[in-house]
Amino acid sequence: MQIQENKPLDKLNTFGLSVSAQYFAEVNSVDEFRELMQTTVYKNNHKLILGGGSNILFTGEVNGLVVKNSIKGISVVSETETEVIVKANAGELWHEFVLWCIERNYAGIENLSLIPGLVGAAPMQNIGAYGVEIKDVFQELEAIDKETGELVKFNLNDCEFGYRESVFKHKHKNKFFITSVSFKLTKLSSPKAIYKFKTDYGDIKNTLSEMQVYDFSIKAVSDAVIKIRNSKLPNPKELGNAGSFFKNPSINKELFEELVLKYPVMPSFPQKDGSLKIPAGWLIEQCGWKGKVVGNTGSHKSQALVLVNYGNATGNEIWNLALEIQKSVKEKFGIEIMPEVNVV
Ligand code: EPU
Repeated sequence: MQIQENKPLDKLNTFGLSVSAQYFAEVNSVDEFRELMQTTVYKNNHKLILGGGSNILFTGEVNGLVVKNSIKGISVVSETETEVIVKANAGELWHEFVLWCIERNYAGIENLSLIPGLVGAAPMQNIGAYGVEIKDVFQELEAIDKETGELVKFNLNDCEFGYRESVFKHKHKNKFFITSVSFKLTKLSSPKAIYKFKTDYGDIKNTLSEMQVYDFSIKAVSDAVIKIRNSKLPNPKELGNAGSFFKNPSINKELFEELVLKYPVMPSFPQKDGSLKIPAGWLIEQCGWKGKVVGNTGSHKSQALVLVNYGNATGNEIWNLALEIQKSVKEKFGIEIMPEVNVV
C-alpha cells in the first residue's frame, strides 16, 4: 500500500473533473486499511473515502487524504432452499455484482442494473431505481471505524435507510469505511421460490413488450432496465455526469393542492406519510433548463435532472449552474430541491 502525492482524480470521478488529491491511497484489504491508519498522513489529515466517484462533485483541489476502496471479492455466505445470502466486498463494481447475481439466477437487484459506482457506496445513499432500493434486499454490512480500526456490523435497522438516505450521511457521516455488503436474494432456480418481478415502474412493462419478452426472466428485466437507462441517462464515459444531481422533493398536501390548480399536469407520487413526491426532472424542465447548455455545462437533453460536463467544466461551474437551477425552481414553484450528489 502506497501513499501518492498530488494524485490526479480525473479518471476517478464520473464528472471527469480535473482535480488532484493532496494524498491518495488505494486499499485492497481490511488489513491494508488498518496499515494505512498507522501512517502519519492518515493520522494528520482529513480523510475522504472514494468509491466509483459517480456521485461526487469536486469544487476544488482535494486537501487531505483520498482513500480509494478496491477491496474485491463476492461469495455466498449461506443459503436455504429458496434464499441465498451473498456478500460483496465494497470495491466491487455495482453493475458487475448485479451481473454476477443474474448469471446465477439470484433475484432482487436486477432493477438496479447499470447503476454506476461501487458496492460499498450503495448503502451510503440507499441506491434505488425502477421501484427497488437496496434496503429491500439488504442483509448487513461491515465497516471499519475510521478512528479505532474496529470492524463493526450494521443490520437493516442500524442503517436507518430512507429515500437516498442512511445513517452514514448523518449520525455516522465520515466515521466508517465500508468493507462489505451482504444481500438476501431469491434463488429462482428453486421450484419452491416465490418471487414477483417488479415491472410496474415507468416504462419497464412497455420496454419488455417492445423487446417481445412475455415470459419474464431476471435477465430480461435487467436488459429492459439497461435499455431504459441507456435511452435517458448519458454514459459518463462519453459525457461527464453523476446521474441525478438533485433528489426528488416531497411536498405537503397544502402546497400540492395549490400547485396542481396552476399546473394540472404536474406528476406526483403520494407517500406513506401523506406528502407527495414530485419529480425534480419535471420541475427543472418546466423552468426551461432541459437541454440548455451553459458554458461548459448544462442540463441533459433527455433527463433534465442530470447535469453534464461538456468537456472543460470546473466543479464550480457545475455547482453554480446547480444553484441557478435550484433558485429558479424555488421561485417558480416554492419548492427547494436538494443535491443528491456529494459536493466537496
Ligand atoms: N421528468 C420530466 N422531465 C425530465 C425528467 C423527468 O418531466 O427531464 C418526469 C416525468 O414525468 C417522468 C418522471 O419525471 O415520468 C420520472 O422520471 P424518471 O423515471 O426518469 O425518474 P426520476 O424520478 O427523474 C429517479 C432516480 C433515478 C432513477 C430513476 C428510475 C432520483 C433522484 N433519481 O429519477 O436515479 O434511475 O428514478 O428509477 O430519485 C440517480 O440517483 O442518480 C438516478 C439516476
